[in-house]
Amino acid sequence: MEQKQLDDLLQLAKEAREHSYAPYSKYRVGAALLTKDGRIYQGCNIENASYTPTICAERTAFFKAIFDGVREFAAIAIIGSGVLPAFPCGVCRQVMSEFCDGDFIIVTSNIDGTEVVTETLDQMMPHRFGPKDLL
Ligand code: THU
Repeated sequence: MEQKQLDDLLQLAKEAREHSYAPYSKYRVGAALLTKDGRIYQGCNIENASYTPTICAERTAFFKAIFDGVREFAAIAIIGSGVLPAFPCGVCRQVMSEFCDGDFIIVTSNIDGTEVVTETLDQMMPHRFGPKDLL
């Protein structure tokens, strides 16, 4: 995937971050998920006073796409709020494991874009449990 495409995806993640509902942590996250057929689904984190119902930006994007019947994904961009790039939490990686191949690309950057990390799902979650294990 070309860097320009990843940069565009990061920009859409940054826009998605504006939709974040994070009154408790104040840590706003945005994600932009690229499907294999070129569609893009944006997501943000949505928190809750009861804390545990909180959903991450990545899963919001995935679940919107899954609802629409999409099952094939190429890449996801994530932007958080810290000085460091925002790596996906374990639960989100597990959701990626359900629907994505090992070459699925995860790109993340800090808010000002000075640090960008791009890795595959294989790199970010080796030896993961997934649908193949239940065959
Ligand atoms: N969060 C995400 O949206 N994505 C992640 O991968 C890590 C954490 C959110 C959840 C919560 O609203 C806030 O960041 C602080 O944990």
